[in-house]
Amino acid sequence: MIAIAVLMQTRLLMGADWYPEQWPESRWEIDAQMMEQAHLNVTRIGEFAWSAMEPSEGHFELDWLDRAIRVLEKHHIAVVLGTPSAAPPAWLTRKYPDVLRIDENGQRVTHGNRAHGSASSPEYRELCRRIADVMAERFGHDPNVVGWQIDNEFGYALMSYDSTTHRQFQDWLHAKYGSLDSLNTHWTTPYWSQTYDSWSEIPIPIGEHNPGLMLDWKRFVTSTWTDYVRNQIDAIRQHADSRQFITGNFMGVGFDGFDHYAVSAPLTLIAWDDYVGSGHLSFNGNGLSHDAMRGLLQKNFWEIETQPGSVNWSNLNNSLDKGEVRAMAWHAIGHGADEVSYWQWRSALNGQEEMHGTLVGPDGEPEPLLAEVARTAQEFGEASEAFRDTHVESHVALLNDYASRWAIEWQKHTDKWNTMQIVSDYYRVLRHIAQSVDVVSPYARLSDYALVVAPGLNVIPDSLARHLMDYVRNGGHLVLGPRSGLKDQYNALLAERQPGKLREALGDRVEQYYALEHEIPLTPHGHASVWAEYLSGNAHVLMRYGTANGWLDGQPAMVTREYGKGRITYIGCVLDASTLDSAAAWMARVSGVHRAFGPVPDSVEVTRRVGTNHKQVFVLINFASRPREVTLPRTMWSVFDKRPMHAVHLTRYGVAVMMSDQP
Ligand code: GLA
Repeated sequence: MIAIAVLMQTRLLMGADWYPEQWPESRWEIDAQMMEQAHLNVTRIGEFAWSAMEPSEGHFELDWLDRAIRVLEKHHIAVVLGTPSAAPPAWLTRKYPDVLRIDENGQRVTHGNRAHGSASSPEYRELCRRIADVMAERFGHDPNVVGWQIDNEFGYALMSYDSTTHRQFQDWLHAKYGSLDSLNTHWTTPYWSQTYDSWSEIPIPIGEHNPGLMLDWKRFVTSTWTDYVRNQIDAIRQHADSRQFITGNFMGVGFDGFDHYAVSAPLTLIAWDDYVGSGHLSFNGNGLSHDAMRGLLQKNFWEIETQPGSVNWSNLNNSLDKGEVRAMAWHAIGHGADEVSYWQWRSALNGQEEMHGTLVGPDGEPEPLLAEVARTAQEFGEASEAFRDTHVESHVALLNDYASRWAIEWQKHTDKWNTMQIVSDYYRVLRHIAQSVDVVSPYARLSDYALVVAPGLNVIPDSLARHLMDYVRNGGHLVLGPRSGLKDQYNALLAERQPGKLREALGDRVEQYYALEHEIPLTPHGHASVWAEYLSGNAHVLMRYGTANGWLDGQPAMVTREYGKGRITYIGCVLDASTLDSAAAWMARVSGVHRAFGPVPDSVEVTRRVGTNHKQVFVLINFASRPREVTLPRTMWSVFDKRPMHAVHLTRYGVAVMMSDQP
């Protein structure tokens, strides 16, 4: 009992997602024993087991779940209980057909897949609350249950386009705007005769629509999912010990179905599902997601699902290479994960995901990968003391803003624009200069960062402009990328030039923006592509456009200005890779940003976690196909070799964990 609490506090955890309801009870003991032998110490169960927990309405059967938890406990495996709302049972959808979602085409979804319940249906909410309540009453004090997962991947943010939801949206708008006059003004509805005389006239936007309406719909989707999650949290919290965390499994930085900062706010732990799909792990691409998920609550997180070799849903479901699954697990730890868990332990013999990778085969025997996972889990155990009470601490932040992402996506102006590509490019260079980057909301506390970079902060309401100016005034360096400060919180154009209210700090304004047909030269060197804005005013010019379309020729492309105790910089175009590298090197220099570790070869990723008394733990991973030598900046303690070292040799996918207690 106590062992589980200690385990949670002191260990890096490794686990697998397990579905006892799919197997005869006689098999459970064997599975738990195999997990224990593989050094796994946590499992998530229950998130799709509604029909087993409530086989008919109001008739709850949780004894089997209790027995499964006891089998796991016997083998020192802690449990995360999933609420089963992503898959309501057949009796439920038959009895309450209105809880099935209506899709965008007006079709009611059929039973037999998942995420078929409507998150906005009051009836469905009540049924979800009831099962969560009954589960929490039974397991809220269970010593072997360490936490709860709400739903599964939040139904991919899917909405029901039914009349109840429509009315809720109209009521939500009413509460937000108070008067139709206000809504009509902010959405500029005289345009195309959109003026609304009654709340009931306002449609749900499907396809292209008024940008104000579209942004409010996204905010309504966000608020629906936040309430959906909160409804179950409230049910659980009535019973559950406070030591039990409540999480949800997010899907990384690329998914923008809702505003993650709002949906995650009521949770006490962030977990996410980390899949490579086709191909191989990109440590920058995946690191960006880790850092963005860590940034939701700005604390350590769990990788509650990851791929055991391969998946079943990609174009090419190749396996990760031998050693790559281990490297991926350590990569997660380096970015702030305290747990890594494989989806899944063993595949159901039937069902939509028969072909997905697993740790145990259909015959119940280990897959070849289980040995690699077991080795990694053992290493987690051995390294736990080193990582105890450590977290990622960065001096550089990259801002991630969902409103801006949506606003740009709906009015891209050029198909060449790829927001996530631009964000990834900035992330890559910032990691290079700092080796540790936080990805946070623009509304987060920024004062601890020496450098804050916003590659495409399109929507800057006045309150945000003030927040960013305070950051600069107090000594920070804010770097804005192209398309910054064009819109207000209603997705309306600001009645001033970019970057809106930040112009006061920048001293410059954007004269005009241009979607580029092809690359254009920059002076003193480099190229701009995709997008170019030219600036004018009294800021210091760092880069100009060369000969281009006439309008841009010789005009400022990148400017900077000291403001208060800090500095603000504007980059008006998409820079080529090497110019972006030099721009980042300049940012590091003027902002006093240093690398957390020191030079490493290009294909070696280094991450850092810090603890008390100057403790720093570095994870070094070689993603190159050939071995690499890394000279350490000073002698460090090798956690795996248990001796001091001043250089490490990393084979392909080789991992080193190095500890230092010097600042
Ligand atoms: C998601 C789901 C899991 C499973 C995996 C397969 O992350 O949460 O239930 O379907 O994908 O990759």
